[in-house]
Amino acid sequence: MDHDSATSSGGPTPGTIPLDSAEFSRDPYPLLATLRDCGPVQRVRTVNGRTTWVITGWAEARAALADARLSKDTARFFAGRPSHRNLAPAVSRTLLATDPPDHGRLRKLAMKAFTPAAVARLEPRIREIAARLADALATRGSADLIEEFAVPLPIAVICELLGVPEGDRAAVRRWSNTLFAAGDPDAVVDRASHAISDYMTGLIAARRDEPGDDVLSDLIAARDDEDRLTEPELVSLAVLLVVAGHETTANLIGNGMLALLRDDTLRSRLRADPGLLPAAIEEFLRYDAPMTIATFRYATEPVDLGGVRIETGDVVQVSPGAANRDPARFAEPDAVRLDRSTGHLSFGHGPHHCLGAPLARMEARIAFEVLLTRCPDIRLTDGTGAGATGGTSDGASDAVEWRRARL
Ligand code: HEM
Repeated sequence: MDHDSATSSGGPTPGTIPLDSAEFSRDPYPLLATLRDCGPVQRVRTVNGRTTWVITGWAEARAALADARLSKDTARFFAGRPSHRNLAPAVSRTLLATDPPDHGRLRKLAMKAFTPAAVARLEPRIREIAARLADALATRGSADLIEEFAVPLPIAVICELLGVPEGDRAAVRRWSNTLFAAGDPDAVVDRASHAISDYMTGLIAARRDEPGDDVLSDLIAARDDEDRLTEPELVSLAVLLVVAGHETTANLIGNGMLALLRDDTLRSRLRADPGLLPAAIEEFLRYDAPMTIATFRYATEPVDLGGVRIETGDVVQVSPGAANRDPARFAEPDAVRLDRSTGHLSFGHGPHHCLGAPLARMEARIAFEVLLTRCPDIRLTDGTGAGATGGTSDGASDAVEWRRARL
């Protein structure tokens, strides 16, 4: 069966679903539901002409994320193909783009800098940064919550984590936005990849000479028996931490606050009982996934999944946004409910499960606590309700009306 045109007459047409359109960025859920109605694994042509399998069913998404036949090794996939790209190796060859056995070795070393103790050590400093940002908001009549809180908090945290000096943070944020958003021309993205890679190389050299109380120094020192991270591995991990941990966490804070600002009862409940925040954060992660669609995978052999055959060489994308609202897994999937046992796939699943998940959860908890206590009268200036999901927070203004919150 040709899944590009798998549709009954008058029904949804997966082949024409505009996954990279402004409409999708504004509110992906109706389109993802239409796609899921066609079947849990669908072949889709994107606006730029690429063909990809999109996995929208929860059970199929979970299986795909843990399936070793679906490779993350981009270099292997593109080997021998002509390319006009000039991405820095630190960006194209990361932990996230590595398969076993290399992946396990790199991940074990990287985990040494993300122990519960290392993450807990950051809490007072995160609280300080969040309080400073919230106090600046509270002095104003109205403010852009994304630009002035949700984005600056995670970038400041990652820069603290890596020991990036204050004066360099704006540049790091710019490069990271360019790499994550994927909306710029290839040449601009390539240049940003080299700039951030050169910057991290310099920072690592400085930390090697003079270790500090930061994760970068921990990673330089990280050893496993006699194994340690090589220089290129260190650089690429530092770049990955910035790119993977910045926009995603900003989206969690932004999407979660939007859900809270739309629900007065929930907001009052959380203000009265901050002990509910961890459950609320899991539900925000499910309800409005910070990454609507996760990173690419490539089939290294045929894979039968969700009633279709994915052929060797096919590109596969799992959609946590769709899987998290699969009615086969979650009752009332379009409602925010704190009484669920979660099981969302927002942090992925399997060997590449998000390394920074404990940090992101802690940042979000602090962000909501601080906003609810320091800005008690916070509310939306308008209720248009388009979220920040999946897009760049520096992106199109038509998608971000809701960001202006009255304080
Ligand atoms: C991997 C989501 C925050 C570091 C991933 C993956 C997802 C994800 C879905 C797996 C991608 C895939 O398998 O295709 C998120 C979300 C976050 C978040 C939703 C915030 C709410 C962070 C933070 C950091 C981080 C704060 C670190 C500072 C990483 C790394 C990987 C990863 C290093 C690669 C792990 C591996 O390949 O083994 N993240 N992330 N993430 N994330 Fe996160």
